Amino acid sequence: MDISKRIQIKHSNITEYESSVTSPVNIAVIKYWGKRNSELILPTNSSLSCTLSQDHLNTKTTIRASPKFNTDRLWLNGVEEKISASTRLTNCINKARELRKQLENALEDQEENTSEKPLSKWKIHIASENNFPTAAGLASSASGYAALVQALANLYELPLNQTELSKIARIGSGSACRSMFGGFVAWRAGVDPNGEDSYAECVAPESHWPDLHALILVVSDAKKGTSSTSGMSTTVKTSELFPMRIEKVVPERMKKMEEAIKNRDFNSFAILTMKDSNQFHSVCLDTYPPIFYMNDISRGIVHLVHAFNEQKDSTTGKPLGIRAAYTFDAGPNAVIYAEKQHIRELVRIFMHFFPPATTQPASTYFPDPFGVLQSESDDGINVEKAYKGIVPRFDPGSVRRIIHTCVGEGPRSAPPSVSLLNESGMPKRVKD
Ligand code: DP6
Repeated sequence: MDISKRIQIKHSNITEYESSVTSPVNIAVIKYWGKRNSELILPTNSSLSCTLSQDHLNTKTTIRASPKFNTDRLWLNGVEEKISASTRLTNCINKARELRKQLENALEDQEENTSEKPLSKWKIHIASENNFPTAAGLASSASGYAALVQALANLYELPLNQTELSKIARIGSGSACRSMFGGFVAWRAGVDPNGEDSYAECVAPESHWPDLHALILVVSDAKKGTSSTSGMSTTVKTSELFPMRIEKVVPERMKKMEEAIKNRDFNSFAILTMKDSNQFHSVCLDTYPPIFYMNDISRGIVHLVHAFNEQKDSTTGKPLGIRAAYTFDAGPNAVIYAEKQHIRELVRIFMHFFPPATTQPASTYFPDPFGVLQSESDDGINVEKAYKGIVPRFDPGSVRRIIHTCVGEGPRSAPPSVSLLNESGMPKRVKD
């Protein structure tokens, strides 16, 4: 079904315009860490990520422009936030408005389409919600800014492609530029001081490697860690390992990773992913004062993935090879990439070593959207025996939930029925 990018809402005497979109999360396999310009959010290095399916994780955003609104307003998960308190948010909105203004001026000059409404002068109401619990500690800024920019572009009918839009999302949050595409996405660092060549582009669409799946292990952690923004700024200033990563390691890994993706070469993809996550956390430790994002539970997961990759066939004794890769962002949660056929065994291992809290129903711990645990076939692995002595069994609830997802598509228009704003342009759901 074709969904229109924006709709008109006609009241007796005025016409308003509205756009709703959903947008995905992305998880980097070559990490972005470090800025060369923090205002324009220009990175010190290129990075590469997989966009994850919106069926399991997404941000939904509705924006309405109306001549009757007095100020720009924003509600995040039903709570009103002050737009002016965030320079990044203001920058994104101003940029989209400026481009809309240019469009209106051009149309006026051509004396064509004079009926086009002066949307750039109207105030907007924005409502945005994540379909994943904020308490899960998953970074929501990438999908949030991607949704904001896509909805603004649709509302203002900006004649820009996704790469051009990624530059606007980038000034909201660096990693957001990669959520403007589905599949496998590179953010080219660029060299231009104005950031004209710092944008995202699709390396391969989601259809290229449909068997590549991901498990997100949401790790219990009460502490609020160092934010990515401040963490990476301290790394750039203090880490002596960092220049080596930027000048030598990342450029080589970007090439190898693109190659691995093109060839659907899981072995190379996994080794590069794990090594790059480890190096990112090493430069964090080399930052002064040091930054720790991974905890004992995260490290337990690392040991188990390596043990899984070292398993041998029980009859032939031959190594089964590298079948899973871990990666960690600026927090203790693990993302495990693996091909579909290995997910069931991985889930069984993780559920054994990180059992749910005693009071937690299995359906909230691992909702099993692909039905992997329902399959009749038994892989016959005795987890207890095969992984003995690798790590202890962790306390119930150490991992709060496991999300199973796959590589998915970029931002998409949503039908008017999913609008987050009511008739008068206020959010339908408000949190007390
Ligand atoms: C560790 O994009 O959140 O997830 O640009 O300051 O908003 P800002 O940072 P952000 O950093 C993400 C860092 C990372 C690695 C990655 O996603 O590449």
